[in-house]
Amino acid sequence: MGEARTRITLLNKENIMQKTETIWHNGMLKPWDEMTTHALTHTLHYGGGAFEGIRFYKTDKGPAIFRLKEHTNRWIYSSEVLGMELDYNYQELFDAQVKVVKENNLESGYIRPLTYYGYKELGVAAKGNPVEVLIANWPWGKYLPHDMVDIKVSKYKRISPETTVIDAKICGHYVGGILSAVELDGTHYHEALFLDHDENIAEGGGENFFIVKDKVIHTPSLGHILPGITRATIIEIAKFYGYKVVEEKITLEQALNADEAFFTGTAVEVTPIKSINDQNIGTGNLGEVTAFIKETYDDVVHGRNKDFMKYLTYV
Ligand SMILES: Cc1ncc(COP(=O)(O)O)c(C=O)c1O
Repeated sequence: MGEARTRITLLNKENIMQKTETIWHNGMLKPWDEMTTHALTHTLHYGGGAFEGIRFYKTDKGPAIFRLKEHTNRWIYSSEVLGMELDYNYQELFDAQVKVVKENNLESGYIRPLTYYGYKELGVAAKGNPVEVLIANWPWGKYLPHDMVDIKVSKYKRISPETTVIDAKICGHYVGGILSAVELDGTHYHEALFLDHDENIAEGGGENFFIVKDKVIHTPSLGHILPGITRATIIEIAKFYGYKVVEEKITLEQALNADEAFFTGTAVEVTPIKSINDQNIGTGNLGEVTAFIKETYDDVVHGRNKDFMKYLTYV
């Protein structure tokens, strides 16, 4: 029998998980190394879990969690979509996430809250299974390894709103992302871009998509994508600074003819796109609008922009 294999071609080495002291599990803080779950945990078999990815940043006033309120609300919403009855209310889940950051004493990092169906029955319906709640965190560097990324349209389509609840962040939704990583493994592409069933651009495996044409910012409208919290932030920032932002259907041709393109997401933050399917976007260099948005976002999350302090929860 061969050993379990880890694919690392696309992996940024900074992403290899670094342990922290403690993980919050069902109301208790447990040492990282003692955190276990049964092999017959329902969600492990069927993907019916709900999760979030949240970053916290080093600021002048200590670590600050970015848009914790919105992430907590989406986490609860996604859990409810799966029929989960949570033993904790919004405030308790909010406070628990702050507590884990405090306990682990990190200056910056990533929070991973997860609700999942535990061990009891293995019928798909998860009727009698306990709902488990977990919050971990760890230091995390850049998600995509380069300053600008080369991306490729995946042969897989983005999941459809006719198949699932598209605006919920559900574990099983990420199978397409895993398949696209297999598809790109060993190639020079850094990330996949998914089209929807109408052949319009949807999003990346874990990020939303934007283009810039004649200084106007365009992004796929809601409906076939995860409504990213970073996406909403970028739209707000861009409008605040006078840019026109259009939410609409975007074709691949439109994207290939854009002046600039970038991804947004908690993990990737603002990541400029150099090329799609080996065709440079604009000059293939960092564009003026993307550079401004990227820098402004960086200031916002680090508490350096006085107009957007409202999104920071200081720990
Ligand atoms: C499929 C998908 N799209 C977009 C995003 C970006 O969402 P957010 O900005 O809320 O992190 C993510 C990450 O959560 C994602 O997994």
